[in-house]
Amino acid sequence: MDFFTDSSLVKNAVVCAENRSILSLFDTPNRVTDFSLSAAGLYLDYSKQNITKTELSHLVAWADECKLSDHMKAMFSGEKINNTEQRAVLHSVLRAPSGVKHQVLGNDAVAVEKTEQHMAQIVDDICQGKLTGLTGEKFTDVLALGIGGSYYGIKVSLSALHPYHSTGVKVHVLANVDGAAVTEKLETLTAATTLVVIISKTFTTQETLLNANAIKAWMLAELSDPEAIAKQWYAVSSNVEKAQRFGLMAENILPMWDWVGGRFSLWSAVGLPLALAIGNEHFNALKAGAYAMDQHFQTARLDENMPVLMALVGLWNRNALNYQSLAVLPYDHALRALPGYLQQTDMESNGKSVSKQGEKLNWATAPIVFGQEGTNGQHAFMQLMHQSDEIIPTDFIVALQGSSDLEEHHKVLVANCFAQSEALMQGKSLAQAQDELVANGASKEEVARLAAHKVMKGNTPSNTLLMQSLTPHCLGAILALYEHKIFVQGCLWQVNSYDQWGVELGKQLSEQVLALMSDSSVNHQMSPSSVKLIEAFVQK
Ligand code: F6P
Repeated sequence: MDFFTDSSLVKNAVVCAENRSILSLFDTPNRVTDFSLSAAGLYLDYSKQNITKTELSHLVAWADECKLSDHMKAMFSGEKINNTEQRAVLHSVLRAPSGVKHQVLGNDAVAVEKTEQHMAQIVDDICQGKLTGLTGEKFTDVLALGIGGSYYGIKVSLSALHPYHSTGVKVHVLANVDGAAVTEKLETLTAATTLVVIISKTFTTQETLLNANAIKAWMLAELSDPEAIAKQWYAVSSNVEKAQRFGLMAENILPMWDWVGGRFSLWSAVGLPLALAIGNEHFNALKAGAYAMDQHFQTARLDENMPVLMALVGLWNRNALNYQSLAVLPYDHALRALPGYLQQTDMESNGKSVSKQGEKLNWATAPIVFGQEGTNGQHAFMQLMHQSDEIIPTDFIVALQGSSDLEEHHKVLVANCFAQSEALMQGKSLAQAQDELVANGASKEEVARLAAHKVMKGNTPSNTLLMQSLTPHCLGAILALYEHKIFVQGCLWQVNSYDQWGVELGKQLSEQVLALMSDSSVNHQMSPSSVKLIEAFVQK
Protein backbone atom coordinates (compact mmCIF):
# COMPACT_ATOMS: atom_id res chain seq x y z
CA MET A 1 0.00 0.00 0.00
CA ASP A 2 1.25 3.46 -0.86
CA PHE A 3 0.86 5.52 2.30
CA PHE A 4 0.33 8.79 0.45
CA THR A 5 -2.27 7.45 -1.98
CA ASP A 6 -4.00 4.59 -0.16
CA SER A 7 -3.96 5.13 3.61
CA SER A 8 -7.26 6.17 5.14
CA LEU A 9 -5.40 8.73 7.24
CA VAL A 10 -4.28 10.62 4.13
CA LYS A 11 -7.53 10.00 2.23
CA ASN A 12 -9.63 11.46 5.06
CA ALA A 13 -7.29 14.31 5.81
CA VAL A 14 -8.69 16.88 3.41
CA VAL A 15 -12.29 16.31 4.51
CA CYS A 16 -11.32 16.40 8.18
CA ALA A 17 -9.10 19.46 7.89
CA GLU A 18 -11.49 21.42 5.68
CA ASN A 19 -14.29 20.85 8.15
CA ARG A 20 -12.49 22.11 11.19
CA SER A 21 -10.82 25.34 12.09
CA ILE A 22 -7.28 25.23 13.39
CA LEU A 23 -8.52 27.51 16.14
CA SER A 24 -10.94 24.81 17.31
CA LEU A 25 -7.98 22.48 17.89
CA PHE A 26 -7.02 24.71 20.82
CA ASP A 27 -10.14 23.45 22.61
CA THR A 28 -8.10 20.36 23.40
CA PRO A 29 -6.36 20.90 26.73
CA ASN A 30 -2.57 21.35 26.57
CA ARG A 31 -2.54 21.88 22.79
CA VAL A 32 0.37 24.35 23.00
CA THR A 33 2.41 22.18 25.37
CA ASP A 34 1.74 19.10 23.28
CA PHE A 35 2.62 20.81 20.00
CA SER A 36 5.81 22.60 20.98
CA LEU A 37 9.33 21.63 21.97
CA SER A 38 12.80 23.00 22.56
CA ALA A 39 16.12 21.77 21.22
CA ALA A 40 19.61 23.21 20.71
CA GLY A 41 18.52 26.70 21.81
CA LEU A 42 15.45 26.77 19.53
CA TYR A 43 11.78 26.63 20.48
CA LEU A 44 9.34 25.32 17.89
CA ASP A 45 5.61 25.96 18.25
CA TYR A 46 3.68 23.88 15.71
CA SER A 47 0.33 24.12 17.50
CA LYS A 48 -1.07 26.29 14.69
CA GLN A 49 -0.86 23.35 12.27
CA ASN A 50 -4.08 21.75 11.06
CA ILE A 51 -3.37 18.37 12.62
CA THR A 52 -4.64 16.54 15.68
CA LYS A 53 -2.66 14.56 18.19
CA THR A 54 -4.07 11.30 16.83
CA GLU A 55 -3.21 12.19 13.23
CA LEU A 56 0.31 13.16 14.23
CA SER A 57 0.81 9.99 16.23
CA HIS A 58 -0.24 7.96 13.14
CA LEU A 59 2.36 9.82 11.12
CA VAL A 60 5.02 9.14 13.75
CA ALA A 61 4.09 5.46 13.76
CA TRP A 62 4.28 5.36 9.97
CA ALA A 63 7.73 7.03 10.03
CA ASP A 64 8.77 4.32 12.45
CA GLU A 65 7.40 1.61 10.14
CA CYS A 66 9.41 3.17 7.31
CA LYS A 67 12.46 2.50 9.49
CA LEU A 68 13.37 6.16 9.72
CA SER A 69 15.82 5.44 12.55
CA ASP A 70 17.67 2.97 10.33
CA HIS A 71 17.89 5.60 7.58
CA MET A 72 19.33 8.03 10.12
CA LYS A 73 21.90 5.50 11.30
CA ALA A 74 22.82 4.79 7.69
CA MET A 75 23.49 8.47 7.04
CA PHE A 76 25.42 9.16 10.23
CA SER A 77 27.54 6.02 9.89
CA GLY A 78 28.64 6.83 6.34
CA GLU A 79 26.65 4.40 4.20
CA LYS A 80 26.49 5.52 0.57
CA ILE A 81 22.93 6.76 0.79
CA ASN A 82 23.47 9.00 -2.25
CA ASN A 83 23.00 5.91 -4.41
CA THR A 84 23.08 7.53 -7.86
CA GLU A 85 26.50 9.03 -7.20
CA GLN A 86 27.66 6.27 -4.86
CA ARG A 87 28.53 8.72 -2.11
CA ALA A 88 28.13 8.89 1.63
CA VAL A 89 26.43 11.95 3.13
CA LEU A 90 28.56 13.02 6.05
CA HIS A 91 28.51 16.81 6.24
CA SER A 92 27.28 16.49 9.84
CA VAL A 93 30.49 14.75 10.91
CA LEU A 94 32.39 17.94 10.06
CA ARG A 95 30.79 19.61 13.09
CA ALA A 96 31.25 16.65 15.42
CA PRO A 97 34.02 16.30 18.02
CA SER A 98 37.30 14.68 17.06
CA GLY A 99 36.40 11.27 18.55
CA VAL A 100 33.27 11.00 16.38
CA LYS A 101 35.24 12.07 13.31
CA HIS A 102 37.79 9.31 13.85
CA GLN A 103 35.12 6.73 14.55
CA VAL A 104 33.08 7.54 11.42
CA LEU A 105 35.73 8.66 8.95
CA GLY A 106 38.63 6.40 9.87
CA ASN A 107 41.77 7.56 8.08
CA ASP A 108 39.97 10.51 6.43
CA ALA A 109 39.62 12.08 9.89
CA VAL A 110 43.31 12.97 9.89
CA ALA A 111 42.99 14.86 6.60
CA VAL A 112 39.80 16.58 7.83
CA GLU A 113 41.45 17.78 11.02
CA LYS A 114 44.54 18.89 9.15
CA THR A 115 42.32 20.97 6.87
CA GLU A 116 40.48 22.47 9.85
CA GLN A 117 43.79 23.49 11.40
CA HIS A 118 45.03 24.88 8.10
CA MET A 119 41.84 26.88 7.69
CA ALA A 120 42.03 28.25 11.24
CA GLN A 121 45.67 29.20 10.66
CA ILE A 122 44.81 31.05 7.44
CA VAL A 123 42.12 32.98 9.30
CA ASP A 124 44.48 33.92 12.14
CA ASP A 125 47.35 34.83 9.82
CA ILE A 126 45.20 36.99 7.56
CA CYS A 127 43.38 38.71 10.38
CA GLN A 128 46.61 39.44 12.24
CA GLY A 129 48.29 40.66 9.06
CA LYS A 130 50.94 37.90 9.06
CA LEU A 131 49.79 36.75 5.63
CA THR A 132 49.81 39.71 3.27
CA GLY A 133 49.34 40.35 -0.41
CA LEU A 134 51.94 40.91 -3.10
CA THR A 135 52.78 44.43 -1.97
CA GLY A 136 53.07 43.46 1.69
CA GLU A 137 49.87 45.29 2.60
CA LYS A 138 47.34 43.76 5.01
CA PHE A 139 44.26 42.23 3.38
CA THR A 140 41.20 44.41 3.88
CA ASP A 141 38.77 42.48 1.68
CA VAL A 142 37.99 38.91 0.73
CA LEU A 143 36.13 38.05 -2.46
CA ALA A 144 34.52 34.61 -2.46
CA LEU A 145 33.63 33.21 -5.89
CA GLY A 146 31.24 30.29 -6.14
CA ILE A 147 27.67 29.40 -7.01
CA GLY A 148 24.87 27.13 -5.74
CA GLY A 149 26.03 25.16 -2.73
CA SER A 150 29.41 26.86 -3.00
CA TYR A 151 27.69 30.19 -2.31
CA TYR A 152 24.35 30.05 -0.49
CA GLY A 153 25.64 28.77 2.87
CA ILE A 154 28.25 31.53 3.01
CA LYS A 155 25.77 34.16 1.88
CA VAL A 156 23.11 33.29 4.46
CA SER A 157 25.63 33.07 7.29
CA LEU A 158 27.46 36.26 6.38
CA SER A 159 24.28 38.30 6.62
CA ALA A 160 22.85 36.38 9.58
CA LEU A 161 26.02 36.91 11.61
CA HIS A 162 26.71 40.49 10.64
CA PRO A 163 26.95 41.61 14.31
CA TYR A 164 29.73 39.02 14.71
CA HIS A 165 31.91 40.36 11.89
CA SER A 166 34.82 41.04 14.12
CA THR A 167 38.03 40.49 12.19
CA GLY A 168 38.22 43.79 10.37
CA VAL A 169 38.22 41.96 7.04
CA LYS A 170 35.28 42.69 4.76
CA VAL A 171 33.97 39.64 2.95
CA HIS A 172 32.14 39.82 -0.39
CA VAL A 173 30.49 37.06 -2.40
CA LEU A 174 30.04 36.83 -6.15
CA ALA A 175 27.94 34.12 -7.78
CA ASN A 176 26.07 35.66 -10.68
CA VAL A 177 27.59 35.31 -14.13
CA ASP A 178 26.68 38.83 -15.09
CA GLY A 179 29.39 41.27 -16.04
CA ALA A 180 27.45 44.00 -14.26
CA ALA A 181 27.75 42.12 -10.96
CA VAL A 182 31.50 41.69 -11.51
CA THR A 183 32.03 45.33 -12.40
CA GLU A 184 29.97 46.52 -9.45
CA LYS A 185 32.00 44.35 -7.10
CA LEU A 186 35.33 45.49 -8.51
CA GLU A 187 34.40 49.13 -7.98
CA THR A 188 34.61 48.52 -4.25
CA LEU A 189 37.86 46.53 -4.20
CA THR A 190 41.56 47.33 -4.30
CA ALA A 191 43.64 44.60 -5.94
CA ALA A 192 46.64 44.87 -3.58
CA THR A 193 44.52 44.29 -0.48
CA THR A 194 42.00 41.76 -1.80
CA LEU A 195 42.22 38.05 -1.11
CA VAL A 196 40.26 35.86 -3.53
CA VAL A 197 38.79 32.47 -2.59
CA ILE A 198 37.41 30.34 -5.44
CA ILE A 199 34.99 27.76 -4.18
CA SER A 200 34.10 25.02 -6.63
CA LYS A 201 33.94 21.36 -5.77
CA THR A 202 34.42 20.38 -9.42
CA PHE A 203 36.41 23.42 -10.55
CA THR A 204 34.50 23.12 -13.81
CA THR A 205 31.47 25.31 -13.09
CA GLN A 206 31.09 27.74 -15.98
CA GLU A 207 29.83 30.71 -13.95
CA THR A 208 32.49 30.46 -11.26
CA LEU A 209 35.35 30.01 -13.71
CA LEU A 210 34.24 32.87 -15.92
CA ASN A 211 34.07 35.15 -12.89
CA ALA A 212 37.42 33.84 -11.65
CA ASN A 213 39.05 34.59 -15.01
CA ALA A 214 37.61 38.10 -15.01
CA ILE A 215 38.86 38.78 -11.48
CA LYS A 216 42.24 37.26 -12.33
CA ALA A 217 42.57 39.55 -15.38
CA TRP A 218 41.65 42.56 -13.21
CA MET A 219 44.19 41.67 -10.55
CA LEU A 220 46.97 41.03 -13.07
CA ALA A 221 46.22 44.32 -14.82
CA GLU A 222 46.28 46.18 -11.50
CA LEU A 223 49.34 44.53 -9.96
CA SER A 224 51.29 43.61 -13.12
CA ASP A 225 52.75 40.47 -11.56
CA PRO A 226 51.59 36.83 -12.00
CA GLU A 227 52.87 36.19 -8.44
CA ALA A 228 49.72 37.98 -7.24
CA ILE A 229 47.65 34.92 -8.08
CA ALA A 230 49.97 32.62 -6.15
CA LYS A 231 50.03 34.97 -3.15
CA GLN A 232 46.49 36.29 -3.03
CA TRP A 233 44.32 33.41 -4.17
CA TYR A 234 42.97 30.40 -2.33
CA ALA A 235 40.71 27.65 -3.64
CA VAL A 236 38.39 25.20 -1.96
CA SER A 237 37.95 22.29 -4.35
CA SER A 238 38.24 18.57 -4.80
CA ASN A 239 39.87 19.14 -8.19
CA VAL A 240 43.38 20.11 -7.11
CA GLU A 241 44.85 19.60 -10.57
CA LYS A 242 42.51 22.09 -12.25
CA ALA A 243 42.94 24.60 -9.45
CA GLN A 244 46.71 24.39 -9.84
CA ARG A 245 46.43 24.81 -13.59
CA PHE A 246 44.53 28.01 -12.91
CA GLY A 247 47.64 29.35 -11.19
CA LEU A 248 47.03 28.52 -7.55
CA MET A 249 49.74 27.22 -5.26
CA ALA A 250 49.12 23.64 -4.07
CA GLU A 251 49.33 24.79 -0.43
CA ASN A 252 46.58 27.35 -1.09
CA ILE A 253 44.08 24.70 -2.18
CA LEU A 254 41.87 23.34 0.59
CA PRO A 255 40.08 20.07 -0.12
CA MET A 256 36.35 19.42 -0.45
CA TRP A 257 35.30 15.94 0.48
CA ASP A 258 33.57 13.52 -1.83
CA TRP A 259 31.12 12.72 0.99
CA VAL A 260 29.96 16.32 1.44
CA GLY A 261 27.36 17.57 -1.03
CA GLY A 262 27.68 21.15 -2.31
CA ARG A 263 24.56 22.48 -0.60
CA PHE A 264 25.64 21.04 2.74
CA SER A 265 29.27 22.14 2.50
CA LEU A 266 29.34 25.27 4.68
CA TRP A 267 30.80 23.17 7.51
CA SER A 268 33.89 22.31 5.46
CA ALA A 269 36.63 24.63 4.18
CA VAL A 270 33.85 26.20 2.09
CA GLY A 271 33.20 28.17 5.29
CA LEU A 272 36.63 29.87 4.96
CA PRO A 273 35.25 33.26 3.78
CA LEU A 274 32.72 33.20 6.62
CA ALA A 275 35.41 32.38 9.17
CA LEU A 276 37.47 35.26 7.75
CA ALA A 277 34.56 37.57 8.61
CA ILE A 278 33.52 36.23 12.01
CA GLY A 279 36.77 34.64 13.25
CA ASN A 280 37.52 31.05 14.25
CA GLU A 281 35.76 31.18 17.59
CA HIS A 282 32.42 32.20 16.14
CA PHE A 283 32.81 29.75 13.26
CA ASN A 284 33.31 26.97 15.83
CA ALA A 285 30.23 28.19 17.72
CA LEU A 286 28.22 27.89 14.48
CA LYS A 287 29.41 24.29 14.13
CA ALA A 288 28.67 23.61 17.80
CA GLY A 289 25.07 24.80 17.33
CA ALA A 290 24.63 22.51 14.35
CA TYR A 291 26.16 19.64 16.31
CA ALA A 292 23.76 20.26 19.20
CA MET A 293 20.89 19.84 16.71
CA ASP A 294 22.57 16.72 15.26
CA GLN A 295 22.72 15.25 18.75
CA HIS A 296 19.08 16.05 19.42
CA PHE A 297 18.10 14.56 16.04
CA GLN A 298 20.00 11.35 16.70
CA THR A 299 18.91 10.79 20.27
CA ALA A 300 15.38 12.17 20.74
CA ARG A 301 12.39 9.90 20.28
CA LEU A 302 10.63 10.42 16.96
CA ASP A 303 7.65 12.07 18.66
CA GLU A 304 9.94 14.47 20.54
CA ASN A 305 12.29 15.16 17.68
CA MET A 306 12.23 18.66 16.20
CA PRO A 307 13.45 17.89 12.65
CA VAL A 308 11.24 14.77 12.49
CA LEU A 309 8.13 16.60 13.67
CA MET A 310 8.78 19.50 11.33
CA ALA A 311 9.22 17.04 8.47
CA LEU A 312 6.04 15.12 9.30
CA VAL A 313 3.96 18.27 9.58
CA GLY A 314 5.41 19.35 6.22
CA LEU A 315 4.45 15.99 4.68
CA TRP A 316 0.98 16.31 6.14
CA ASN A 317 0.56 19.71 4.50
CA ARG A 318 2.04 18.60 1.17
CA ASN A 319 0.63 15.10 0.72
CA ALA A 320 -2.47 14.89 2.89
CA LEU A 321 -3.80 18.44 2.58
CA ASN A 322 -2.27 19.02 -0.89
CA TYR A 323 -0.75 22.41 -0.10
CA GLN A 324 1.86 23.10 -2.74
CA SER A 325 4.05 25.78 -1.22
CA LEU A 326 5.94 26.67 1.91
CA ALA A 327 6.57 30.29 2.86
CA VAL A 328 9.60 30.99 5.04
CA LEU A 329 9.27 34.34 6.78
CA PRO A 330 12.11 35.39 9.04
CA TYR A 331 11.18 38.44 11.10
CA ASP A 332 14.83 39.29 11.24
CA HIS A 333 16.75 41.44 8.80
CA ALA A 334 19.81 39.31 9.45
CA LEU A 335 17.98 36.21 8.18
CA ARG A 336 16.86 37.82 4.93
CA ALA A 337 18.92 35.36 2.87
CA LEU A 338 17.44 32.30 4.58
CA PRO A 339 14.50 31.79 2.16
CA GLY A 340 16.92 31.77 -0.80
CA TYR A 341 19.23 29.36 1.00
CA LEU A 342 16.31 27.04 1.80
CA GLN A 343 15.08 27.19 -1.77
CA GLN A 344 18.31 25.50 -2.75
CA THR A 345 18.63 23.04 0.12
CA ASP A 346 14.99 21.97 0.00
CA MET A 347 14.08 22.16 -3.68
CA GLU A 348 17.42 20.93 -5.08
CA SER A 349 17.34 18.06 -2.58
CA ASN A 350 13.76 16.86 -2.76
CA GLY A 351 12.38 18.39 -5.95
CA LYS A 352 12.21 14.97 -7.60
CA SER A 353 9.61 12.56 -8.95
CA VAL A 354 11.34 9.17 -9.07
CA SER A 355 12.35 6.95 -6.17
CA LYS A 356 15.94 6.05 -5.31
CA GLN A 357 15.37 3.00 -7.52
CA GLY A 358 14.24 5.17 -10.42
CA GLU A 359 10.53 4.32 -10.22
CA LYS A 360 7.95 7.05 -10.87
CA LEU A 361 6.45 8.23 -7.58
CA ASN A 362 2.69 8.56 -7.14
CA TRP A 363 2.95 11.39 -4.67
CA ALA A 364 4.12 14.98 -4.55
CA THR A 365 7.51 15.82 -3.07
CA ALA A 366 9.21 19.12 -2.18
CA PRO A 367 6.97 22.16 -1.81
CA ILE A 368 7.69 25.38 -3.67
CA VAL A 369 9.68 27.30 -1.07
CA PHE A 370 9.62 31.08 -1.13
CA GLY A 371 9.75 33.98 1.26
CA GLN A 372 11.57 37.06 2.41
CA GLU A 373 11.83 39.23 5.50
CA GLY A 374 8.39 38.94 7.08
CA THR A 375 7.39 42.58 7.38
CA ASN A 376 8.30 43.22 3.74
CA GLY A 377 6.33 40.13 2.71
CA GLN A 378 3.32 41.51 4.60
CA HIS A 379 3.23 44.45 2.23
CA ALA A 380 3.59 42.27 -0.84
CA PHE A 381 2.75 38.59 -1.39
CA MET A 382 0.99 38.06 1.92
CA GLN A 383 -2.15 39.63 0.42
CA LEU A 384 -2.43 36.42 -1.63
CA MET A 385 -1.78 34.30 1.45
CA HIS A 386 -4.67 35.99 3.28
CA GLN A 387 -7.26 36.27 0.54
CA SER A 388 -6.62 33.95 -2.40
CA ASP A 389 -7.93 30.39 -2.27
CA GLU A 390 -4.35 29.10 -2.02
CA ILE A 391 -3.38 27.90 1.46
CA ILE A 392 0.33 28.42 2.02
CA PRO A 393 1.81 26.87 5.16
CA THR A 394 4.36 29.18 6.70
CA ASP A 395 7.44 29.03 8.89
CA PHE A 396 7.78 32.16 11.02
CA ILE A 397 11.24 32.69 12.50
CA VAL A 398 12.02 35.32 15.11
CA ALA A 399 14.45 36.14 17.90
CA LEU A 400 13.19 37.44 21.26
CA GLN A 401 16.08 39.85 21.45
CA GLY A 402 17.07 41.95 18.46
CA SER A 403 20.62 42.77 17.51
CA SER A 404 20.19 46.54 17.41
CA ASP A 405 19.69 49.07 20.22
CA LEU A 406 16.37 50.13 18.70
CA GLU A 407 14.18 48.23 21.13
CA GLU A 408 10.91 49.74 19.96
CA HIS A 409 11.69 48.53 16.44
CA HIS A 410 12.20 45.02 17.71
CA LYS A 411 8.98 45.09 19.67
CA VAL A 412 7.04 46.12 16.55
CA LEU A 413 8.85 43.48 14.47
CA VAL A 414 7.99 40.70 16.91
CA ALA A 415 4.41 41.96 17.26
CA ASN A 416 4.00 41.75 13.49
CA CYS A 417 5.36 38.24 13.43
CA PHE A 418 3.02 36.97 16.13
CA ALA A 419 0.08 38.88 14.63
CA GLN A 420 0.58 37.41 11.16
CA SER A 421 0.56 33.80 12.33
CA GLU A 422 -2.64 34.59 14.20
CA ALA A 423 -4.20 36.43 11.23
CA LEU A 424 -3.38 33.57 8.86
CA MET A 425 -4.98 31.12 11.27
CA GLN A 426 -8.01 33.14 12.43
CA GLY A 427 -8.97 34.85 9.18
CA LYS A 428 -12.10 36.99 9.16
CA SER A 429 -15.59 35.73 8.37
CA LEU A 430 -18.20 37.67 6.40
CA ALA A 431 -20.18 38.28 9.58
CA GLN A 432 -17.08 39.64 11.33
CA ALA A 433 -16.30 41.89 8.38
CA GLN A 434 -19.88 43.20 8.37
CA ASP A 435 -19.86 43.82 12.13
CA GLU A 436 -16.56 45.63 11.87
CA LEU A 437 -17.87 47.92 9.13
CA VAL A 438 -21.01 48.68 11.13
CA ALA A 439 -18.93 49.42 14.22
CA ASN A 440 -16.86 51.84 12.13
CA GLY A 441 -20.01 53.72 11.10
CA ALA A 442 -20.41 52.34 7.58
CA SER A 443 -23.80 52.73 5.91
CA LYS A 444 -25.91 49.72 4.92
CA GLU A 445 -24.85 50.17 1.28
CA GLU A 446 -21.19 50.39 2.23
CA VAL A 447 -21.46 47.21 4.29
CA ALA A 448 -23.06 45.40 1.34
CA ARG A 449 -20.46 46.76 -1.08
CA LEU A 450 -17.34 46.18 1.03
CA ALA A 451 -17.85 43.26 3.41
CA ALA A 452 -16.96 40.48 0.94
CA HIS A 453 -13.69 42.25 0.12
CA LYS A 454 -12.66 42.16 3.75
CA VAL A 455 -13.14 38.43 4.29
CA MET A 456 -9.97 36.44 4.95
CA LYS A 457 -10.02 32.71 4.63
CA GLY A 458 -7.87 31.92 7.68
CA ASN A 459 -7.08 28.31 8.56
CA THR A 460 -3.56 28.68 7.19
CA PRO A 461 -1.16 26.54 9.22
CA SER A 462 2.17 27.78 10.49
CA ASN A 463 5.19 26.94 12.60
CA THR A 464 6.88 29.55 14.76
CA LEU A 465 10.56 29.08 15.44
CA LEU A 466 11.76 31.20 18.36
CA MET A 467 15.23 31.82 19.69
CA GLN A 468 16.62 34.06 22.39
CA SER A 469 18.91 35.91 19.98
CA LEU A 470 20.50 35.09 16.65
CA THR A 471 23.93 33.88 17.76
CA PRO A 472 26.31 31.73 15.69
CA HIS A 473 25.20 28.76 17.84
CA CYS A 474 21.53 29.41 17.02
CA LEU A 475 22.19 29.87 13.33
CA GLY A 476 24.04 26.55 13.27
CA ALA A 477 21.07 24.90 14.95
CA ILE A 478 18.61 26.44 12.47
CA LEU A 479 20.60 25.31 9.43
CA ALA A 480 21.00 21.78 10.83
CA LEU A 481 17.29 21.68 11.73
CA TYR A 482 16.32 22.34 8.11
CA GLU A 483 19.01 19.96 6.78
CA HIS A 484 17.60 17.14 8.86
CA LYS A 485 14.00 18.02 8.10
CA ILE A 486 14.86 17.76 4.40
CA PHE A 487 16.65 14.44 5.03
CA VAL A 488 13.62 12.98 6.84
CA GLN A 489 11.23 14.10 4.12
CA GLY A 490 13.52 12.66 1.45
CA CYS A 491 13.58 9.28 3.25
CA LEU A 492 9.79 9.19 3.56
CA TRP A 493 9.22 10.36 -0.01
CA GLN A 494 11.81 7.71 -1.00
CA VAL A 495 13.88 10.10 -3.12
CA ASN A 496 17.63 10.54 -3.21
CA SER A 497 17.96 13.96 -1.59
CA TYR A 498 21.66 14.22 -2.39
CA ASP A 499 21.92 14.32 -6.18
CA GLN A 500 20.78 17.12 -8.51
CA TRP A 501 20.57 15.77 -12.06
CA GLY A 502 17.89 18.30 -12.85
CA VAL A 503 20.43 21.09 -13.22
CA GLU A 504 22.36 19.25 -15.93
CA LEU A 505 20.13 19.70 -19.01
CA GLY A 506 20.28 23.47 -18.79
CA LYS A 507 24.09 23.30 -18.59
CA GLN A 508 24.23 21.05 -21.71
CA LEU A 509 21.88 23.24 -23.70
CA SER A 510 23.72 26.41 -22.75
CA GLU A 511 26.81 24.89 -24.45
CA GLN A 512 24.72 24.48 -27.62
CA VAL A 513 23.40 28.02 -27.38
CA LEU A 514 26.92 29.36 -27.01
CA ALA A 515 28.05 27.31 -30.03
CA LEU A 516 25.10 28.63 -32.07
CA MET A 517 25.94 32.19 -31.12
CA SER A 518 29.31 31.74 -32.82
CA ASP A 519 28.23 29.56 -35.75
CA SER A 520 24.61 29.27 -36.89
CA SER A 521 25.36 26.11 -38.92
CA VAL A 522 26.22 23.84 -35.95
CA ASN A 523 23.93 20.90 -35.17
CA HIS A 524 21.46 21.78 -32.45
CA GLN A 525 18.21 20.82 -30.74
CA MET A 526 16.88 24.34 -30.27
CA SER A 527 13.26 25.21 -31.02
CA PRO A 528 12.48 27.92 -33.61
CA SER A 529 11.60 30.16 -30.68
CA SER A 530 15.10 29.93 -29.23
CA VAL A 531 16.77 30.14 -32.64
CA LYS A 532 15.03 33.47 -33.19
CA LEU A 533 16.12 34.68 -29.76
CA ILE A 534 19.71 33.65 -30.50
CA GLU A 535 19.56 35.48 -33.85
CA ALA A 536 18.38 38.60 -32.04
CA PHE A 537 21.40 38.35 -29.74
CA VAL A 538 23.83 37.80 -32.64
CA GLN A 539 22.42 40.74 -34.61
CA LYS A 540 22.27 43.15 -31.68
O1 F6P B 1 23.53 23.68 -8.86
C1 F6P B 1 24.23 22.56 -9.27
C2 F6P B 1 25.52 22.42 -8.58
O2 F6P B 1 26.12 21.27 -9.07
C3 F6P B 1 25.39 22.37 -7.05
O3 F6P B 1 25.07 21.16 -6.55
C4 F6P B 1 26.72 22.89 -6.63
O4 F6P B 1 26.68 23.30 -5.33
C5 F6P B 1 26.93 24.00 -7.62
O5 F6P B 1 26.39 23.52 -8.83
C6 F6P B 1 28.35 24.46 -7.79
O6 F6P B 1 29.19 23.40 -8.14
P1 F6P B 1 30.74 23.49 -7.88
O7 F6P B 1 30.97 23.60 -6.43
O8 F6P B 1 31.30 22.23 -8.45
O9 F6P B 1 31.25 24.70 -8.62
